[in-house]
Amino acid sequence: MVAHLDRYKTFRCFWNVERVEIMDLEGKNALVTGGSRGIGRAIALALGRKGSNVAVNYHRRAAAAGEVVELLREMGVKAIAVQADVSDYDQVQRMVQEVVSGLGGLQILVNNAGIVGSHTALAEIPVAEWRQLIDVNLSGTFFCCQIAAAALKRNGGKIVNISSIAGKMGGTIGSHYAASKAGVIGLTFALARELAPRVTVNAIAPGPVDTDFISTEVKERLSRSTPFGRIATPEEIAHATIFLLENDYISGEVIDVNAGRYMD
Ligand SMILES: NC(=O)c1ccc[n+]([C@@H]2O[C@H](COP(=O)([O-])OP(=O)(O)OC[C@H]3O[C@@H](n4cnc5c(N)ncnc54)[C@H](OP(=O)(O)O)[C@@H]3O)[C@@H](O)[C@H]2O)c1
Repeated sequence: MVAHLDRYKTFRCFWNVERVEIMDLEGKNALVTGGSRGIGRAIALALGRKGSNVAVNYHRRAAAAGEVVELLREMGVKAIAVQADVSDYDQVQRMVQEVVSGLGGLQILVNNAGIVGSHTALAEIPVAEWRQLIDVNLSGTFFCCQIAAAALKRNGGKIVNISSIAGKMGGTIGSHYAASKAGVIGLTFALARELAPRVTVNAIAPGPVDTDFISTEVKERLSRSTPFGRIATPEEIAHATIFLLENDYISGEVIDVNAGRYMD
């Protein structure tokens, strides 16, 4: 009984003296690549609900990005749509300039834009498709980090890179996709060290998520092979992203959001 009370006091003492460091996202400026649809859209809206101003990057679907911007403005935050192909260095440079001047600085970068190929078997992947996936998924993430780094370092910043379970265990949608997403994890580790302590750099490795990215047939098959009997919602990935953005002491981490898929 006495030992139990001692533990209780220790806990109270710990509770009273410790400060819980959580970055207040309200008023912070964020760029979400591929924010027009799917996971990026959910992340942009989750940031808006936290009071962040959001630049919504898109590649081709201006109307979808415009709709996200409208929803964000209805929440009372600043929001702009910025077109850029993240695989093009010059376009990324222009995009970051537009965001920094449009929002008045940049503290948060979420590298979410990504594509999948149309071939999966090693022997069938065309060289052009290999290059395209590496260009968008990996080089695009690198370009955004490199170009935004100066702005992020200015007042302290956060980067979250959206990788994939495929980057950790191969997956089933092609070696080019898996390699691009494994590259994103390596980039995350290297930048976490290089940009410390001004910028935290983390990644998320989602299992299958209910977006346009995968076909209905694949979604059904993957739901059946997932321990929870369903794939993730984009909001569940956004929730993990917000957690990483709010925390000031996690860096170089990859969070799996996959309903315990590794336990199979
Ligand atoms: N869905 C999944 O099962 C799953 C699982 C693990 C990881 N991920 C990763 O999560 C991220 C988002 O996937 P999602 O499922 O939300 O995909 P999605 O619904 O297909 O949306 C892709 C987004 O990326 C943008 N985009 C594509 N190519 C681009 C480029 N070259 N430059 C700039 N933006 C570009 C698209 O813009 P437009 O609207 O203009 O086309 C769109 O906003 C990707 O990195 C993907 O690899 C997805």
